Amino acid sequence: MNVSSTRSKSLRKFSSKVDLFFLSNPSVHQSLKRVISRELTITGDALVDEFFTPMISSIYYEIEREVNAEAASAYRAELVIKELSTFARVNSQFLKRASHSVEGFCPEFAHELMRNFLEEGGDRGSLPAHYVLYAGALIRDLDVFVNGYIPQAESSRLLLWLHEIIVNSHCPSTILGGYYATEAVATAETEELRRLTNRLGQLKVGKTGADLPNLDYYYRLHLDNTHEGATQGVAVEEGHQEGIALFIRNANRYGFLMPQIVDGFLQLLGPLVDQWTELCMLTNAESNLP
Ligand SMILES: [Fe+2]
Repeated sequence: MNVSSTRSKSLRKFSSKVDLFFLSNPSVHQSLKRVISRELTITGDALVDEFFTPMISSIYYEIEREVNAEAASAYRAELVIKELSTFARVNSQFLKRASHSVEGFCPEFAHELMRNFLEEGGDRGSLPAHYVLYAGALIRDLDVFVNGYIPQAESSRLLLWLHEIIVNSHCPSTILGGYYATEAVATAETEELRRLTNRLGQLKVGKTGADLPNLDYYYRLHLDNTHEGATQGVAVEEGHQEGIALFIRNANRYGFLMPQIVDGFLQLLGPLVDQWTELCMLTNAESNLP
């Protein structure tokens, strides 16, 4: 073990699932280190499909197991919902900021980020902004109030702070990697939130799934590829992820740099994942008590 890992271990309250993933997948870690140090040149497709995607699948599988939503306490379910809502409420402004940060370098990427921002804003005159839909659905179906909620967990605050830094970066490749992490975990996170609101519905009002109609609409809007919000059969969240992945897949064409993409990806994947770990840890003692 080298000095830096010893030092970081002693300062952290818990192990990052990203670090644990690297420990159990040393070849992935080695490859990403070689990309960052410019010893290895790989294609954007390989970066997305052979490194980022398996990494996220493996880590979020572990998060799902740890959260154990089907047996979670009402305390765990409600705390996670509230803490995660503090990022959801500002994601659209981050998208808009990121779009402005990259517009001079790559207008096509700026356009994609702006498209996502506009999609989050709903449809003027007919569909409210997604966060308004979500916050309202939590009130209507579960009487959970997230508006004005102040993030309590250190990792929730870190996520907001680090995301703010990335979207204001002078480096478009860092923004690309960072926003890819955010959008690539969004489907898994939304599915996890659906399991938690179902669990809270079961415990609080004796209802789940379509019997929580406002939440059900919100989740289908994001995850269902047959929903009216889907574009050409691609669900909203999946569309955001693939729309951004396109710029990694075609990094050379647009002038994006692989080392910075990997760095940006890791800068945001860590805090996104840590939030779940800390919230599980904080609610662990009561996780099986309704
Ligand atoms: Fe959304």
